[in-house]
Amino acid sequence: MSEHTNTADHDPHATIALPPPDRDISSREDIAIFVTDFYRDVAMDDLLGPIFDAEHVHWAQHVDKLTDFWAWQLFGERGYEGNPLLAHVPIDAKHPFSDAHFARWLEMFTTTIDLHYVGPTAQTAKQRAAKMASAMQRLLHGRSASADHPITPYLTTR
Ligand code: HEM
Repeated sequence: MSEHTNTADHDPHATIALPPPDRDISSREDIAIFVTDFYRDVAMDDLLGPIFDAEHVHWAQHVDKLTDFWAWQLFGERGYEGNPLLAHVPIDAKHPFSDAHFARWLEMFTTTIDLHYVGPTAQTAKQRAAKMASAMQRLLHGRSASADHPITPYLTTR
């Protein structure tokens, strides 16, 4: 008979006693790790998952693109060719992003980074994500209120 009868061991949301992270994000491989983890959680999330489902997201391509995106944001690597803000306009038009969507997105992003990394680059990733999420919120839902919060160039130009 198997001794492994406790099905709670298989609960993907169960708390796992991982050691605290002891290193920072320092390579593209490090980025790929947190991007893969983050979107695995997003795909299963009851609030965010349905938006990605409805968009029929090709996950492997999305993870590659977001790895390029963060390599550009954190290391200045030129690989990502897109405009993150404009890309969300048609998606938001079909499935409006609420404050709750943004709050969940940011909470999950922060949790994922904190699970794996600690240090200045990890800190920058979290700050950059928060800044972009609020810029996106203003652009999508509050254009008239944006005058005193100029959108930073890295969001709108290459
Ligand atoms: C409510 C929050 C958000 C939702 C629901 C959301 C959802 C999505 C979806 C459905 C896509 C399209 C994926 C595909 O078709 O392959 C996408 C693309 C993308 N998202 Fe988000 N997103 C959110 C916030 C953010 C934030 C805050 C950032 C940046 C820090 C971000 C960065 C990106 C980038 C870089 C792309 C690729 C755009 C391109 O095609 O060039 N997203 N997002």
